[in-house]
Amino acid sequence: MAKVVRIEKIAAHVGEEVTLRGWLYNRTDKGRLQFLQVRDGTGIMQCVVFQKEVSPETFDAARRLPQESSLIVTGRVRADARAPGIPGGYELGVSDLQVVQAAQEYPIGPKEHGVEFLMDNRHLWLRSSRQWAILRVRAEIIRAIRDWLDDHGFLLVDTPILTPSAAEGTTTLFATDFHGEKAYLTQSGQLYNEATIFAFGKVYCFGPTFRAEKSKTRRHLQEFWMVEPEMAFCKLEELLEIEEEFVSYIVQTTLTRRATELRLLGRDTSRLEKVTPPFPRLSYDEAVERINAAAAVGKTVPPNDEPVPPIRWGEDFGAPHETFLAEEFDRPVFIHHYPTEAKAFYMEPEPGRPEVCRSADLLAPEGYGEIIGGSERMSDPELLQRAIERHKLPKEAYRWYIDLRLYGSVPHSGFGLGVERTVAWICGLDHVRETIPFPRMLNRLYP
Ligand code: 4AD
Ligand code: MG
Repeated sequence: MAKVVRIEKIAAHVGEEVTLRGWLYNRTDKGRLQFLQVRDGTGIMQCVVFQKEVSPETFDAARRLPQESSLIVTGRVRADARAPGIPGGYELGVSDLQVVQAAQEYPIGPKEHGVEFLMDNRHLWLRSSRQWAILRVRAEIIRAIRDWLDDHGFLLVDTPILTPSAAEGTTTLFATDFHGEKAYLTQSGQLYNEATIFAFGKVYCFGPTFRAEKSKTRRHLQEFWMVEPEMAFCKLEELLEIEEEFVSYIVQTTLTRRATELRLLGRDTSRLEKVTPPFPRLSYDEAVERINAAAAVGKTVPPNDEPVPPIRWGEDFGAPHETFLAEEFDRPVFIHHYPTEAKAFYMEPEPGRPEVCRSADLLAPEGYGEIIGGSERMSDPELLQRAIERHKLPKEAYRWYIDLRLYGSVPHSGFGLGVERTVAWICGLDHVRETIPFPRMLNRLYP
């Protein structure tokens, strides 16, 4: 065995004899030449087995090897622009091949499979190059999120997953038994990080969050990952400036660092390249006017040329509304000052106009919808007490939360960015189910 290297670093080893460890992705039989496409987790490389250059046993093994067999292969690295693979452009002239395990017949082939079949075989589907590329982009997006926040003075503070009360409405709670007491899987770490800002100033939590969504849409999961920055002494206007810097950094960094994966996915990146600050800002009032003007002239939106329905002031936007609004601009758009009644209990009302709150959602372009929800938080204890009553929430469970408004209350704001919707947008996918290794959906808990 020569020095073990990984395919993503292969360019540094041209002319050397190296060993790759991985799995057989594909094979082309050209008689005395066997072209093995070997993947090792970091890429795919063509390994050429020439009958004259290996033992008869090795050649025979290469010729019979089923897809997904695990193997250790040694040979000399050659640069060859025609060689397929990821990144491609290099091949291995094989001198030795050891089969670790010859795989059974693999259920996923090159032919088309239905999405339910692929989802049932998610544990295997993850090996295919599209899925590999998506999850590599996901990891890069997460790295960019952490890097930006860590570099801008936000402290990572982990919030609990088991909670006694709701953060985002009581209709999507997953209940569980906590030693005889009712507990819920967290919908958001926000309320806890409203406590920790008083200790650390600027914080973020980043973890799995849970919503018992009764809807099957291409944007909803039951379990998804959310990053939630929260800041003391921060008002809505400043919050939006932070969000646009943050999102632009994530997009531009991913475009640079995961160019190979995005190319493999066939992503047209021209719209993503435009994602730089400032983002347009549109009030909910203006958005409603634009929607109704469009509905009146029978405007339709992609992908299915669905008509834009009219909307009454006070209603939440549906997917065609969000798609329409986003298509009006060439980069993500903030919709701010939503009706108070359409939003969560903790949002600060606009002074002098309490029917709207100091909130903003960020809508991604190309029909990807809301990727961020955020707001200024109520800082007045009496106002908050009344909001909790109005939303019929159990007062006792929120005592600690009201407490935060008694000991040095300050204007504060924060937001939550959904990782899966961001990955779907950046990768250009039509459903969030491929953006997380093992999706939890209304009708799916397996594998
Ligand atoms: O708008 P949401 O519900 O906001 C919150 O949870 C706030 N507590 C955040 C905060 O201010 N700290 O959710 C925020 C984002 C959405 O914009 C969306 O990207 C994502 O989380 N999200 C979902 N993603 C996938 N499946 C679901 N069921 C989602 N629900 C929300
Ligand atoms: Mg929201």
